Amino acid sequence: MCGIVGYLGPQQAAPIIVNGLKRLEYRGYDSAGVCIVAEDTLRIGKQAGKVANLERDVNPAAIPGTLGIGHTRWATHGLPNDVNAHPHTNADGTIAMVHNGIIENYLTIKKKLLNAGYTFRSETDTEVLVVFIGMLYQQLGDLELAVRTALHEVEGTFGIVVVSTHEPDTMIAARRGSPLVLGIGQQEFIIASDASAIISHTRQVIYLHDNEMAVVHRNGSFTTKTIGNEKTHNAIQEIEFELDAIEKGGFEHFMLKEIYEQPNTFRDGFRGRLQPSEGNVRLGGLSSVADKLRTAKRIIITACGTSWHAGLVGEYLLEQFARIPVEVEYASEFRYRNPIIDADDIVIAISQSGETADTLAAIREAKMKGATVIGMVNVVGSTIARETDAGVYLHAGPEIGVASTKAFTSQLCVLTQFALYVGRMRGLPAAEGRQIAEALEAIPDRMHRILEQADGIREIALAYANATNFLYLGRGYNFPVALEGALKLKEISYIHAEGYPAAEMKHGPIALIDANMPVVFIATRDEIYDKVLSNIEEVRARNGRVIAIANEGDEHIAAVANHVIAIPETHPALTPILASIPLQLLAYYIAVERGCNVDMPRNLAKSVTVE
Ligand code: G6P
Repeated sequence: MCGIVGYLGPQQAAPIIVNGLKRLEYRGYDSAGVCIVAEDTLRIGKQAGKVANLERDVNPAAIPGTLGIGHTRWATHGLPNDVNAHPHTNADGTIAMVHNGIIENYLTIKKKLLNAGYTFRSETDTEVLVVFIGMLYQQLGDLELAVRTALHEVEGTFGIVVVSTHEPDTMIAARRGSPLVLGIGQQEFIIASDASAIISHTRQVIYLHDNEMAVVHRNGSFTTKTIGNEKTHNAIQEIEFELDAIEKGGFEHFMLKEIYEQPNTFRDGFRGRLQPSEGNVRLGGLSSVADKLRTAKRIIITACGTSWHAGLVGEYLLEQFARIPVEVEYASEFRYRNPIIDADDIVIAISQSGETADTLAAIREAKMKGATVIGMVNVVGSTIARETDAGVYLHAGPEIGVASTKAFTSQLCVLTQFALYVGRMRGLPAAEGRQIAEALEAIPDRMHRILEQADGIREIALAYANATNFLYLGRGYNFPVALEGALKLKEISYIHAEGYPAAEMKHGPIALIDANMPVVFIATRDEIYDKVLSNIEEVRARNGRVIAIANEGDEHIAAVANHVIAIPETHPALTPILASIPLQLLAYYIAVERGCNVDMPRNLAKSVTVE
C-alpha cells in the first residue's frame, strides 16, 4: 500500500512521476504529492484525495526539473489531509522523502528530535524519519551515509526514496518490508513500488531485496548495497507483462476488464502444466519439495482476504484428492498464536501481490519453525515469491482492480493442480486424475458461457442495488464461494453482506430474513443439492428474495428462486471457479449502479504491506 515513484534522468521528471502515480494509485488513494528538485530548491505539490485532484488543483507536471519523487498514500499515521500527504521534508527544506510502510519507533526518534529543538508540521512517522536524516546530514555531510545511519535506528517497515538539493544528481532508495523496483533506462532511472509505473520507460529492472538500498547517479552509474553498506549484485531482469496488461483496454473499469480476462488468465494458469492424458500435472517449481509433499502429515494454508477464501477451497480439494489433513489460517492470526509447526509440515502461502505483510510474517514464522513453505503468488519477483522454498506462479498478469477477481480464479486453478499433483503421488487413481484434468481444461470455454449472461446479471443487480443487507449461502465447495461473493459486494458497493454455510442459516441468520433480504444461494447439482433446495424453501417461506446460482437447465431451482443465474456443469470440485464469476459481476453492477468507485473502493488498498 502507498505507491512511490522517483525519477532521475534527462527528461522532465514531474510528468513521468504523475503518470507513474496514476499507475500505482490502486495501492492507496487518500492523498498524492510530488517533489521536484528545481535548481537549489525543492518544489512540492501535494493534496488530499486522488492523483486526479492533484493534477487539477496543483498541476505538478508543470514543475520543471529532472529529479523528483512522488507518492500516493494509504493513510496509516495521521489523517489523509494535505499536510500529512507525502513528500515530507527535513527542517530546512533541503531533503525530501516519500515512504511506504510504518516506522514503529517513530515516537522515540521524534522525542530525541524534539529535545534537540526540531519541530514538526505533520503527524506522520515519515516526517520524523526525514527530519532525522536531515539532522544526520548536517553532522555527516553525506546524504547516503545519513540515510544509512538513520535506517539503522529504524524499527518497522519502509520503502523510501530520498532526494536533496545538496546532491541534485543522486537519488537514494531503500527498503525493508515494502517493495521497491529499480528501472534502468538509457542514462535514466525510475524507482517505483512496482513495475507498472516503470514499464512505459524501460523493461530492465532490479527488484530490491529487504534491507537493501539503491544509489543512482545522473551519469548513469548505480550501486545496490545492504543498508549495512555491503555491495550486492542483483541480476537485472526483464518485466514480463506488456503495457496493455495495465490499461483498461476499452472497459469502463479495471475490475470489469479483469473479470472478462478470466478465460485467458485461467488458461495461462494451466498451460504447459496440465497433462490431461496422464491425469497429472507438471509443476516445475515444486520439484525440490516433491519428496516432502509425498510424506507430509499435514498442510497449513495461510493467506488474507480473497486469497484466504481460495485457501478454503484448497482445503476441500487437497483433502478430497490427496487425503491429507489441511488447516486454513488467517495469516494475521496464525503468526501471533505461537502455532505448533514442525519440520514435517508444509505451509502454503497464497497471495496475489506477494507483499501482504501478515502473510509474509506468517511464512517467516513457519520457516523459523522448520516447515517447508510453498508460495502461490501472482506478482513475479515479489517478496513472498522470493522467500518461499518453492512455489507455483498464478500467471494471471497484473491485477489492478482493488477487489480481486481474476487472481482468485487463478488461485483456484493452481490449487486444483496442486491437489491433483499431490493426490497422484499419494494414490489418486489415474482415471480420476484424468477427469479432473479434463474438467480443468474445459473451464475457459465454460467461463465464456457465463460472461455471455452479463446483461441478465446486470438486470438482477439493478433490482437489488438499494438493498442494505445481503446473505450469501453455499455448502461444501460452494461455502467459500459464498464468503467470497459477500466480500466482493461489501468491498465495492459498501452493502453489508454475510456469507454462511447454507445449513448454518437456521442457527442464526434466518432471523434476519424478510422481504427486504436478498439471499444468494450457490445451488449447483452435487451430493448436497437436495439439502440446499430445502434451505431455499426455508428462505422463500419467510418471504426472502432468492437469487440462485444453479446449473443450466435446472427446473427445480427455477421454480422456487426469484432469479436464476445459470452456470455450466463441471466436476463438482471445480464449481467454485465457475460460481464465483456471476457473483463478481453481480457485485460489480450493483456497485456501479450505486455510483461507487469500483476500482478504488473507500479505505481499501490492493496490497496491504502494513500489519
Ligand atoms: C487486500 C486486498 C484484497 C486481497 C488481500 C490479500 O485486502 O484488498 O483484495 O485479497 O489484501 O492480498 P494478497 O495480495 O495477499 O492476495
